[in-house]
Amino acid sequence: MSNYHIKHLEEYFQVYRKSVRNPENFWEEVAEEHFVWRKKWDKVLEWDFSKPEIKWFEGAKLNITENCIDRHIHIRGDKTAILFEPNNPEEEAQHITYKELRKRVCKMANVLRDKGIKKGDRVVIYLPMIPELAVSLLACARIGAVHSVVFAGFSSTALSTRINDCGAKMVLTSDGSYRGSKTIDLKGIVDDALKDCPSVESVLVAKRINSDITMKEGRDEWLAPLMEEAYGDYPAEVMDAEDPLFILYTSGSTGKPKGMVHTTGGYMVYTSYTFKNVFQYREDDIYWCTADIGWITGHSYIVYGPLANGATTVMFEGVPSYPDFGRFWEVVQKHKITQFYTAPTAIRALAKENLDYVNKYDLSCLKVLGTVGEPINEEAWHWYNDHVGEKKCPIVDTWWQTETGGILISPIPFATPTKPTYATLPMPGVQPALMDENGSEIKGNQTDGRLCIKFPWPSMARSIWGNHQRYKDTYFSAFKDMYFTGDGALRDEVGYYRITGRVDDVIIVSGHNLGTAPIEDAINEHPAVAESAIVGYPHDIKGNALYGYVILKETGESRDRDNLKKEINQVITEHIGPIAKLNKIQFVPGLPKTRSGKIMRRILRKIASKDTKNLGDTSTLLNPEVVEKIMEEAL
Ligand code: WTA
Repeated sequence: MSNYHIKHLEEYFQVYRKSVRNPENFWEEVAEEHFVWRKKWDKVLEWDFSKPEIKWFEGAKLNITENCIDRHIHIRGDKTAILFEPNNPEEEAQHITYKELRKRVCKMANVLRDKGIKKGDRVVIYLPMIPELAVSLLACARIGAVHSVVFAGFSSTALSTRINDCGAKMVLTSDGSYRGSKTIDLKGIVDDALKDCPSVESVLVAKRINSDITMKEGRDEWLAPLMEEAYGDYPAEVMDAEDPLFILYTSGSTGKPKGMVHTTGGYMVYTSYTFKNVFQYREDDIYWCTADIGWITGHSYIVYGPLANGATTVMFEGVPSYPDFGRFWEVVQKHKITQFYTAPTAIRALAKENLDYVNKYDLSCLKVLGTVGEPINEEAWHWYNDHVGEKKCPIVDTWWQTETGGILISPIPFATPTKPTYATLPMPGVQPALMDENGSEIKGNQTDGRLCIKFPWPSMARSIWGNHQRYKDTYFSAFKDMYFTGDGALRDEVGYYRITGRVDDVIIVSGHNLGTAPIEDAINEHPAVAESAIVGYPHDIKGNALYGYVILKETGESRDRDNLKKEINQVITEHIGPIAKLNKIQFVPGLPKTRSGKIMRRILRKIASKDTKNLGDTSTLLNPEVVEKIMEEAL
């Protein structure tokens, strides 16, 4: 029996039992058999959630790029490692082989070293989805610098906050980026941000859009000529398993963003293991995750996990709507994608459009479909299953977080029977627990509670950069000796998990706990509804009442609004019960979203509560004009 590659359900249960009975042995076997180490560990695991302190493979020495690149050179050096699909479909795709990737990474490592970057220094990467982005993560890892990628859609304020928080010495950026038919002036944003970032000594600029930019003398330099001259080999820095690999910022419910610190050995083992199993990756597959590398999904499942498995991983520069809503499917057909991994928000957006955009393309190459980032509603799940997977591709609804580093709960395709809206079963080594409000674990099935994890897994974040106390307070204080996810979940009669949404989104109405996700799910079942968001607002009698923001499909626009409201409440009554009926329903043209596609419920709550004087931090808001409109028409 292979621990590393699970192929059927019985095997999953066997592996799972083994992984829980003796986690150290389990992960030791995986680590020993599938990776190259300069030196093996002295101890597999050391942990104490009360401090909290977590160490995996302590004493081991390695470099993650030797695992992601060098060791593949002899076996698959000419295989495509990164397949770059540009924004403009007329521009040719680039196939970067493992050999070529090694050369580029080594060259950039030399460039970084020549600029004075050394082991432990922080480098902020603010690049669009072009090959230089993946290369720069790996170049940092090659020399032992800690990368912190800031999604290249964040504003200059958000960028400078992150640069200052981690004290970055260097920023890697580009002249600009393409986004559909638009271009974005990234270098201008960096210049703005750097007005207030004393730690930054140098800025390297990749050329992408050939725009006119200003280069600051003594600080800024073009990357390409430096790469051209640099030597194409670089001995990998030998790192400790627990040396930081990267910092990635995630927004907290309050306060400034949290710089989650991920370390090297455990992160590599876990992302590689989960990639192999969750996507059932085979040697000749072409895997595509549509996320941006600026998010954890891109770190773990575009770069490190796939490359550690010697996979071909697609990097897509564009957007799903350019040049039209068929772009995803055009790319799937063109590159014969076998695994396709995207977000529910993208699926919902595409499901709103004409089916011809999908049906036009031959998608028979697809084997596995994935989703991540938020609960997927039933309607979107079925659309994805019926029209993209043509009912032949298992959908892996993968639940995880920036903090967890890798996927914790997900079906294993062709092994775990899927169930719409359920992330199903924990990955080997992952021990979930549902907790009640009094801090006790709820045993048994058919129950729901706060989702915690009882035992460490190798890729969990080790700290918040510069603020270990906040790490402890946020994740290890709500429940004793548990990692608290901040999510609610239910466990069905067979033990499948369904993530019901952030517990901060739970609304208590007349003493009943209502999750926003199931209500939204219900509303979205209404044929005229495209998308919805529910928040609570203070109510004299019920404590809280429900306010629904609803986007109609084009077909619903002409309908009588009062009738629609009645029907929506009827659907909710049917799916959940009259207790979940909405007090107010506002039809809106869009929902305020973060740049990563999450609904900004905080803003919706403020509008629902008529508390719009101070909307709080809106720097990550993608569509401020929608907020204006919603406020104007608020009920
Ligand atoms: C939510 C993204 C339901 C969840 C990898 C989590 C999900 C937060 C799912 C983390 C899913 C992620 N089903 N909810 N499959 N995946 N979430 O840090 O609330 O951007 O806590 O990491 O997204 O978001 P993050």
